[in-house]
Order: sequence, then C-alpha cells, then structure tokens
Amino acid sequence: VKTIAVVSAKGGVGRTTLCANLGAALSRQGRAVLSLDMDPQNAIGLHTGLPIGATDGLARATLANRDWLSACVETSDALVLPHGVLDEADQAAFEVRLLAEPELLKQKLAGMGLADDALVIIDAASGPSAYLRQALIAADLVLVVTLPDAASYATLPVTTRLVETHCSARADFVGTSYVINQVDNSRGLGKDVMRVLLGTLGSHISQVHRDESVCEAMASQQLVLDYEPTSMATRDIDACALLLSERLPSTLKETQ
Ligand SMILES: Nc1ncnc2c1ncn2[C@@H]1O[C@H](COP(=O)(O)OP(=O)(O)OP(=O)(O)O)[C@@H](O)[C@H]1O
Ligand SMILES: [Mg+2]
Repeated sequence: VKTIAVVSAKGGVGRTTLCANLGAALSRQGRAVLSLDMDPQNAIGLHTGLPIGATDGLARATLANRDWLSACVETSDALVLPHGVLDEADQAAFEVRLLAEPELLKQKLAGMGLADDALVIIDAASGPSAYLRQALIAADLVLVVTLPDAASYATLPVTTRLVETHCSARADFVGTSYVINQVDNSRGLGKDVMRVLLGTLGSHISQVHRDESVCEAMASQQLVLDYEPTSMATRDIDACALLLSERLPSTLKETQ
C-alpha cells in the first residue's frame, strides 16, 4: 500500500476536488484506490456522490473502536472513507486521540487489509493541525496543491517545513509533488507567478487549468471526470494521476 497525502497550507485551493477526482482517475488507470477524508469538513462525499446527511466515517469508527473498513463506502471507482460528522464534544475527543497517537492513521491503514498495490489518497485538512500531521506521518508521497497566486506562493515554506519534520527523514519517503490548480493563462499576473512557481518547485509539477466544469460538477455532486469527460480539467487530472502513478508504481506490475 502506498499513501498520497494531498495537502495545502491555504484552504479553498481545490484540495478536496483534486483528491476525489485523482482517486477516481487512478482507479480508472487500473489502480486499487482508497480515497480517505482526513478533514472534519467531511466534504469528499460531495464529489463522489455519497448520501447527503450520512454521519458515519473514520472519526466515529475510531471513537467506537470499530474497524475503518466498516465506515468505507464502495463507489464505482474508489473505495471512499469519509471523515464523517461528529458533535463538538466527540470531535474534540477525536482530536485528542489524534494528538496522543500520531501514527493512528498509519496504523489503521495498515490494519485495513488493502491490496498490496493499493493507493490511498488522503484529503488532509489545510494548515497545521493534528489531521495534517497524521496524513504526513502516513504519507509515502506528499502532493501539495497551490494556486498560481502570490498568497499561495507565500505559504509554501510552511508546508515544506512540515514535510521536512514528518516525512523527509524516512528512507522510504518518495518525495513531494505539486499541483498548480486553477491555472488561467489569460491573466497576466498569474503568468508571472507561474514562472516563479515552475522555477522553484522542482521537477514534479502538474497543472490543472481553471475550468467552469469543475464548479458545475461539484454543484451536481459528480466527479469532473464524469460530468465533463472531455474538459480541460479532466485531461489535466488524468495527466496528474499518471505522474503520481509513475512515482508510486504498482508492485504487481514489477513481478509480472
Ligand atoms: N480547476 C478548477 N477550476 C475551477 N474551479 C475550481 C477548480 N478547482 C477547484 N475549484 C473550485 O474551487 C472551490 C474550492 O474547491 P475545494 O472545495 O476542492 O477546495 P479545498 O481546498 O478542499 O477547500 P477547503 O480548504 O475548504 O477544504 C470549489 O468551488 C471548486 O469547485
Ligand atoms: Mg476541502
């Protein structure tokens, strides 16, 4: 099992959208995928068509000492594990668990009996938190989502430091990849920031263009991949999934 933590220092950059769609894209490229929501906003179901109002998820399962598989929902693509909805007291109790057991997510994943070549893609709550820390500790690869604007660029060092703290020392840590989301080549200012980003982020960069079909897909609670299969965003997401898959090759293929 290989784990991708999808992270961003700033909120609202498209992390959940990308996590849900990349999970499905990886699945359609032949990988066994678990899309896991490590964000109390519990938003992954909005993209993957989970029933609205459902409250079960990994948080409730943890507090009830239930297996995480029991909270998974099987979709036509990935297995989806929502965070779920808790009342305030239970959410606080869950956060206490996360702080006390930094490897809880990693251990729960190891105990789920996922296929050897499975990929887990995690939507990690934005900004430093117990949720993000759990995701980083479990991650084989970190996918940083950023917008092509100065504010996002300014927050990148926060993420870099957290990756250095929680990931870089592990010999088997694969590294960091970046997605620049909502790229809009018609905007002059965006172009300047793009040039800086492409110059500083290293070689593992994908771009996803700003595309109306992303918002429309979310409004109809569908993946962009399904809502508009020929859209620019769908093509970009497919390409990004391929790059991720190349960095985390299936162990099955190697032995065939
Ligand atoms: N490539 C894109 N083109 C157009 N709109 C996009 C794109 N990516 C994301 N969006 C829109 O941006 C908004 C925020 O996306 P999303 O909820 O995925 O962000 P997030 O980073 O998960 O936010 P949060 O920090 O609140 O969890 C949504 O309305 C989504 O439809
Ligand atoms: Mg989100």
